[in-house]
Amino acid sequence: MFASENRIHHHIQELSKFTETPGEGVTRLTYSKEDMQARQYIKEKMIEYGLQVHEDGIGNIFGKLEGSKKEAPSVLIGSHFDSVPHGGAYDGTAGVVVGLEIAALFQENNIAPQYPLEIIAMIEEEGTRFGDAMMGSRSIAGNISDEDLDSIQDKQGVSIREAMRECHLDSSLPRKRDSDTLKAFIEMHIEQGPILESKQLPVGIVQSIVGLTQLDVVIKGQAGHAGTTPMHNRSDALITASSIITELPDIAKKESEDSVITTGTLQVYPNGANVIPGEVTFTVDIRSSQDQHVKNMIVEVKELVKQFQRNGIQVDIKQKTYIKPKALDPTIQQLLIDKSEKLNLEHCFMNSGAGHDAMVLSDITKAGMIFIPSENGLSHCPEEYSETYDIANSVDVIFESVKELTNE
Ligand code: GLV
Ligand code: MN
Ligand code: MN
Repeated sequence: MFASENRIHHHIQELSKFTETPGEGVTRLTYSKEDMQARQYIKEKMIEYGLQVHEDGIGNIFGKLEGSKKEAPSVLIGSHFDSVPHGGAYDGTAGVVVGLEIAALFQENNIAPQYPLEIIAMIEEEGTRFGDAMMGSRSIAGNISDEDLDSIQDKQGVSIREAMRECHLDSSLPRKRDSDTLKAFIEMHIEQGPILESKQLPVGIVQSIVGLTQLDVVIKGQAGHAGTTPMHNRSDALITASSIITELPDIAKKESEDSVITTGTLQVYPNGANVIPGEVTFTVDIRSSQDQHVKNMIVEVKELVKQFQRNGIQVDIKQKTYIKPKALDPTIQQLLIDKSEKLNLEHCFMNSGAGHDAMVLSDITKAGMIFIPSENGLSHCPEEYSETYDIANSVDVIFESVKELTNE
């Protein structure tokens, strides 16, 4: 094995300490104190491994090893370093650590590439702070405008630009990368499901990633006294929201076998035990491998929500993230397969039900992904775990692939 399990284990352990919720999983929101701590760690390691470090105008981190060819496009390796609330130590972070380890191996083996190698650590893939998933990669792809920096705000009304200013990140720096500066992007990610573990396979080669959208639904009723308002005289926003939410699973089941709908957040105002809920907001996350299914479900959810509009109840629905299902690059898939076989690592093909930065970057470069097993298929929870040995195997596959990509 080329990769150092010690180094990988150490990085995962250290980065897991940068959490808002110690002992209760990793909570690392974009531009938070914990983001700053993880950012510092990642940048220090990049420098230690001989990379030139810079951050872009949205706070993505890049560590570059120059190639011998002048102005040649880079091979990018990496993932995101934000987390969901009370998530695990591996989602995103493991892919960043793989990038760091690849850089360490280039340094250790004195490899001078022809094409530049860039290790990247992206912000806000989860959309936990700003409600907008894959923000770091969408910014690299040119899909975040100057206006978005002001109009996209967190739940406290703090804009991206203000939040960046507060942590001394420069939002006036360039964000978009032109396609001709990129040769390929490879992302290692934990599977976040049970397939590799059940098949006892070390490597999954990702062929496609689901399409997904997120809707914000707002229900406005009338707050009032829980003791004095007769039942027939209420406009209870939470009762309405609950009626809608309980109908959502049927929309997915009716649509297709691989369609899924989830309500993962619910805010009740004013949230008092003796107050009739006056306003409720909730999210609807919709996914499927077929774009048409996603589109059909959006229409169905909008129609369902509209049916609840009546005297005393107002409904509003806004569409946030929308990303089409993506097929990953066949030549990168083949390269990852060839290198896995050379290393005697058995693989299978997989489709990802989770969204990933690779699906966004596939619009501007050849993108590929490799999955490793997740213990008990768990992710987005503190129990999330993958073996260091499996991460190290994936480093070897990517190391072999990158040596080829940076030299042909
Ligand atoms: C990211 O984890 C997503 O699939 O939403
Ligand atoms: Mn995630
Ligand atoms: Mn992730």
